[in-house]
Amino acid sequence: MTSPASTIDMTVTQITRVAKDINSYELRPEPGVILPEFTAGAHIGVSLPNGILRSYSLVNPQGERDRYVITVNLDRNSRGGSRYLHEQLRVGQRLSIAPPANNFVLVETAPHSVLFAGGIGITPIWSMIQRLRELGSTWELHYACRGKDFVAYRQELEQAAAEAGARFHLHLDEEADGKFLDLAGPVAQAGQDSIFYCCGPEAMLQAYKAATADLPSERVRFEHFGAALTGEPADDVFTVVLARSGQEFTVEPGMTILETLLQNGISRNYSCTQGVCGTCETKVLEGEPDHRDWVLSDEKKASNSTMLICCSLSKSPRLVLDI
Ligand code: FES
Repeated sequence: MTSPASTIDMTVTQITRVAKDINSYELRPEPGVILPEFTAGAHIGVSLPNGILRSYSLVNPQGERDRYVITVNLDRNSRGGSRYLHEQLRVGQRLSIAPPANNFVLVETAPHSVLFAGGIGITPIWSMIQRLRELGSTWELHYACRGKDFVAYRQELEQAAAEAGARFHLHLDEEADGKFLDLAGPVAQAGQDSIFYCCGPEAMLQAYKAATADLPSERVRFEHFGAALTGEPADDVFTVVLARSGQEFTVEPGMTILETLLQNGISRNYSCTQGVCGTCETKVLEGEPDHRDWVLSDEKKASNSTMLICCSLSKSPRLVLDI
């Protein structure tokens, strides 16, 4: 669990183009500061100077304590997160981050790992592959991209696969004649004790869930990335009322409740900022939330008793929260 009180000041020390529309950003702390440990698949929360909070997977090897590296895809529909990073962030600029958290943990003892990535979903998967390489474990990768210009870490992945004798299947949409990456085949062919991982867009996760539906849940792991959140950003303004203090704030179009509260000096616990970890779950006393998270069950969403304020918005003009 993280909160603004536990943020770390970092400096952007390097920006590298990894593929078309994809940059990696190396962030280092103040001299002498040792960063918190993290494990493959972890993400950090990044608080951008324009007030936007975003969560990005770490791509550097998990033993490193002197830097964090994130890799970000320019989302053409960006509300200011990836667009800010790509168009405005410069080397030397300072950023505040929330320490690493991991909701997509690698099972290091698995006899074999089958990894599926779609687009920028390669970031936690690449981090896992680096760890599997270190452990000398066996793995295979199935990676879908729009086209050859959009393949991040291609050379590194090819080299890692060659070293490990691993299968690396690169699926390029532009050459696939409208066919999607086959997930069912590799799942069916994998050994009984294999563990499966998937990070990619919503359509890929749905195919992955269908392909692994008969497997025990402990063998099936996945992570959504932010762009896959359901629904469109809200166009309508709504009011959020904090029941305990009586304070009221307007949530502007393109903003989340969490961003609005933090900007107004209201401290809240949060971690992923993308509706996947559950840290920001908040009791709703009045009003109808517009649920956009991946955490609450359908029953809980229907009850409107709680909501995840990092991503969910409001269907009613006013929401009263137990804050
Ligand atoms: Fe993770 Fe809201 S901070 S779900």
